[in-house]
Amino acid sequence: MPRPGRLPTLTGMSRIQVRSFTADDIDAAAGLLAARHRAHRRTAPLLSPSFEDPSVAAQAVAAAFAQPDASGAFGVRDGQPAGFVLGAPKGSELWGPNVWVESAGHACTDPEDLRDLYAVAAQRWVDEGRTAHYALAPADPALLNSWYRLGFGQQHAHGIRDTAVEVTPSKVAVRPAVRADIPLLAQLDLELPHHQGRSPVFSAGSTPDLQEALDEWESDFDDPEYAVFVAEHEGAVIGSAIGCALSKSGSHTALARTENAGFLGFAAVLPAARGLGAGRALGETVCVWARDAGFTSVVTDWRVTNLLSSRAWPALGFEETFIRVHRVVGY
Ligand SMILES: CC(C)(COP(=O)(O)OP(=O)(O)OC[C@H]1O[C@@H](n2cnc3c(N)ncnc32)[C@H](O)[C@@H]1OP(=O)(O)O)[C@@H](O)C(=O)NCCC(=O)NCCS
Repeated sequence: MPRPGRLPTLTGMSRIQVRSFTADDIDAAAGLLAARHRAHRRTAPLLSPSFEDPSVAAQAVAAAFAQPDASGAFGVRDGQPAGFVLGAPKGSELWGPNVWVESAGHACTDPEDLRDLYAVAAQRWVDEGRTAHYALAPADPALLNSWYRLGFGQQHAHGIRDTAVEVTPSKVAVRPAVRADIPLLAQLDLELPHHQGRSPVFSAGSTPDLQEALDEWESDFDDPEYAVFVAEHEGAVIGSAIGCALSKSGSHTALARTENAGFLGFAAVLPAARGLGAGRALGETVCVWARDAGFTSVVTDWRVTNLLSSRAWPALGFEETFIRVHRVVGY
C-alpha cells in the first residue's frame, strides 16, 4: 500500500520508451483510446458506445493526426503500446499561440505515463512557439491528476444528462420566443460575454455590439434547427435559452459528440433577475424540448470559473464528462 500523500510511482514496472508520433502509430493508439473510452463509459454511460470499437477510434485518431501541424508522442513499454499524446493548433487567435489535445488525442495504460508523453510532445510545441496548451480530458480523477502535475488547471467542463426531466414548479414562466422578443434576445446575447469577460473568468471571447446581435436575430430567427425560449417574470422577459442538436456544436467533436444528443447551446438571464429560478426553468425546458424532439440525452458545457453556470448546470443534473485543462508555458 502506498503511504497516504505519496505520489504514484512506477516501482516494479519497466520504463516507458517515448518517441515522436507517426502515422504508423494510429492503429495502436486507437486500441489505447478505445480502452480509455470503455473505462470512461463505466462512469459516463451516456457517451457514445461507438468509440469502444478500435476501428471507429482509429478514424478519430487519424482525423486528429490529419490536422495541419499535428504532432505528438507515442510510448511503448516491454514492446507493447503504452500511450500517446497528439495535438494540433487551432487557427483562431482567441486561444493564443496554441496547441489542442482533443478528446481523441491522448490515452495511456498508466495515467502516470501521460507526463512522459507530454514531455516529449510539448518540447516540439514550445520549440514551434506554441506555448498555450489545451487538453480535453475525460473527467477521470487519475488522468486529470497527471495533467495537474504537468502544470495544467481546469478551464472548461462538458456535461451530459438524460432526457427524463421533471419540471420544477417555478414562479418563472418559459415560452417559445416570438419575433417581438428580438430586442431582448439581442440584449441577452451580450450578457454571457459581459459576464465571462469579468473576474474570475477573464474570457478572451469578444462581445458583439447590440446592432450586430439584432441583425443576426433578424436574419436567423426562423431557422428551424434552433429552438429558442424566453423566460418571463412579472410580465417581463428576463432570460433566454437555445436548444439544438449537439452536432451543431464545433466544440463537441469525436468522443465528446454523443450520437442523438440535444444541446443546451446558450442561456442567459438579466443580471438583476439571476437566482430567481429562470436558469433552471429555461434549462429544464430545453431538456423537455430535446426529449420531445427525439434526442436521448442533452449536453452542455461551461467555464469552470463561471460561478453561475458552473453551479447552475450541475444543479440541473448535468454530470461532467470531459474537462478542458489549460496551461501557458513561459512564466
Ligand atoms: C447561468 C444562468 C443562466 C443561471 O440562471 P439563474 O436564473 O441565475 O439560475 P437559477 O436561479 O435558476 O439557479 C439554478 C441553479 O443554480 C444554482 N445557483 C444559482 N445561483 C447560485 C449562486 N449564486 N450560488 C450558488 N448556486 C447558485 C442553484 O443551485 C440553482 O439550483 P436550485 O434551483 O436547485 O436552487 C445565469 O446565472 C446567467 O445568465 N449567468 C450569466 C451568463 C451565463 O453564465 N450563461 C450560461 C453560459 S454556459
